[in-house]
Amino acid sequence: MNDYVRLAFTLASSIFWTAVMIVWMGIQVFKHKMDFFTQKKRERPPKVLDGWNHDSVKLSDVTLHYVHAGSTDKPLMLMVHGFPEFWYSWRYQIRHFQSKYRVVAVDLRGYNESDKPSGIANYSAARIGQDLQELVIALGYKSCVLLAHDWGGAIAWGVAARYPEIVDRLVICNCPHPKGMQKAIQSDRGQLLKSWYMFFFQCPILPELMFK
Ligand SMILES: *[C@@H]1O[C@H](CO)[C@@H](O)[C@H](O)[C@H]1NC(C)=O
Ligand SMILES: *[C@@H]1O[C@H](CO)[C@@H](O)[C@H](O)[C@H]1NC(C)=O
Repeated sequence: MNDYVRLAFTLASSIFWTAVMIVWMGIQVFKHKMDFFTQKKRERPPKVLDGWNHDSVKLSDVTLHYVHAGSTDKPLMLMVHGFPEFWYSWRYQIRHFQSKYRVVAVDLRGYNESDKPSGIANYSAARIGQDLQELVIALGYKSCVLLAHDWGGAIAWGVAARYPEIVDRLVICNCPHPKGMQKAIQSDRGQLLKSWYMFFFQCPILPELMFK
């Protein structure tokens, strides 16, 4: 596929899925009235969030928050969450690996307690990957076992390619290699359908509204 065809296809898909979501949101507003757009406030964080060790580290561009466990003289296992998630996705693995590793489950930039710089340019895969490289060094390590899930997996594939020296082992859950993903989206209609939200996310404002 040449670039113009791909761009036209992406645009058309984005418009299509945006239209579908406008209809869906219209139905939700009809059913739930304006409650649909009202964020429910929690009085206090849920109990399951008690008892974790939190810390944060200032990198060249952002300060990242993370939860840690295990002794600092053990090798580093860095856990990278997917979308729309945060460190908490790794609660079982943090507990499981803490006896053999220094486990660090990070909040990527833009998520939960980490900094949220403005503008799309601040969220390129390369920029987020650089955060992880800086994080490993800032934690006092030369390399890590990199464990990543979902969209965090896409970032981690890039980290392993760009900074192979900081990755001892790469464990990716639920995210194919980006080149494989691109091939699948172009050649497999089932995958294309399952990736509908990526097209919807190209639309401004509406996805944020829906997530509320
Ligand atoms: C981070 O997530 C926890 C759990 O959902 C929540 O209680 C807390 O308010 C979040 N922090 C921010 C800054 O969003
Ligand atoms: C990146 O984030 C910083 C800090 O929030 C902001 O000053 C800067 O304008 C952002 N860059 C772009 C290109 O949006």
